[in-house]
Amino acid sequence: MVVRTVLEPFHPFRLTPTRVMGEALSGLYVAFGLGFLAGGGLLPDKGLAAVDLIAWASLIHLLLNLPLALSVPKPSPAPRARTSPQGKARKPLRAEPPPPPEPPLPPPEPPPPPPEPPPPEPVRGPEPPSPKELEERLERALVLPERAREEILKVARVMADPEGYKRTWGMDPPRGLLLHGPPGTGKTSVARFLAKELSVPLFVVNPGELKSKWYGETEARVKALLEEAGGHPTSMVFVDEAETLLGNRNEIQHETSRSIVALFLQGLEGFYSPAGHLFLVLATNHPERIDPALLSRLSFRVELPLPGPREREAILKLLLPKGRYREEDLDEVVRATEGFSGRDLRALAQRATLRAHLEGRDTVSLQDFLAELPGREG
Ligand SMILES: Nc1ncnc2c1ncn2[C@@H]1O[C@H](COP(=O)(O)OP(=O)(O)O)[C@@H](O)[C@H]1O
Ligand SMILES: [Mg+2]
Repeated sequence: MVVRTVLEPFHPFRLTPTRVMGEALSGLYVAFGLGFLAGGGLLPDKGLAAVDLIAWASLIHLLLNLPLALSVPKPSPAPRARTSPQGKARKPLRAEPPPPPEPPLPPPEPPPPPPEPPPPEPVRGPEPPSPKELEERLERALVLPERAREEILKVARVMADPEGYKRTWGMDPPRGLLLHGPPGTGKTSVARFLAKELSVPLFVVNPGELKSKWYGETEARVKALLEEAGGHPTSMVFVDEAETLLGNRNEIQHETSRSIVALFLQGLEGFYSPAGHLFLVLATNHPERIDPALLSRLSFRVELPLPGPREREAILKLLLPKGRYREEDLDEVVRATEGFSGRDLRALAQRATLRAHLEGRDTVSLQDFLAELPGREG
């Protein structure tokens, strides 16, 4: 290193084969010239002419070689090559100092694994709401017993990100939900709520419709529906009145009905959604009539009972137009609606409001409610 620094001023140019040859030739000419000069002293007439000739040739050769000798090898395209403000490479006056020694290389890292093709991005709607937000929305939509609400929110958490569940636990999330309770207690509403809030396509199987409209074709219809649902990243298949379509296979006579139960069992095993998540939601007022193999595979269960007095009041408040009734009237309405389902209460609220409207009032009175209770005319 030190040697190089000291010698550098005397060897400003890098030696290339061309230059070495040029220098050697020049030296040869000079040597010849000096030789003839020396000889010329002895043979002045001829010798001086020869010396002149050789000396001139030497000079011309040197001049011709000068640009070559001065030419500097092109700067390497290293990023450190200095450039003038105009962007032209500046002619360095001497060779660039050698690059600093490279730090010792770390042990060679194993080559990065070949980039895996990204998993197919599920086509999702808007971001699912946070668990807190979902809880608030559920409270605004339906009046439910504490346990039912908690279970529905659990389903929602899983349904919002089934892939995340699968990544974390290395297995499919539970995908069966049973909603059971009397008619009008919110089973269909819960299924619709989940599908809407989580932007999951909802496929409704209505057994009454299936059997009457497509008699004899039911099995093919159900299969096609499961296949279509299974093609979505996440989907929900909702079977209303599930006991009529998915009754106990040992008790039902029709071969068709038996094979329909088998189709849904396959659905629960993920047969129709190899790359996605098909959630199966069964609604019934008679869970005991559902095929036991199917029933036992429904991990989530939500019971929706008839609303008690406090729930009835809350449902009425949810359904009635804000500020257009007297809250103290509701106590009596609640007492008078024992055994009403949510759907019954909705019908009552609608009729009472209509009565006030038709009589030209802008608030619903206690009389409007009482008059519209079944069996209490006028
Ligand atoms: N728990 C509830 N809270 C608020 N409204 C309810 C509730 N249950 C039922 N309703 C009202 O009754 C309507 C019908 O309910 P639905 O979900 O169809 O009942 P189901 O499917 O159990 O027969 C709903 O649209 C809603 O207006
Ligand atoms: Mg329903």
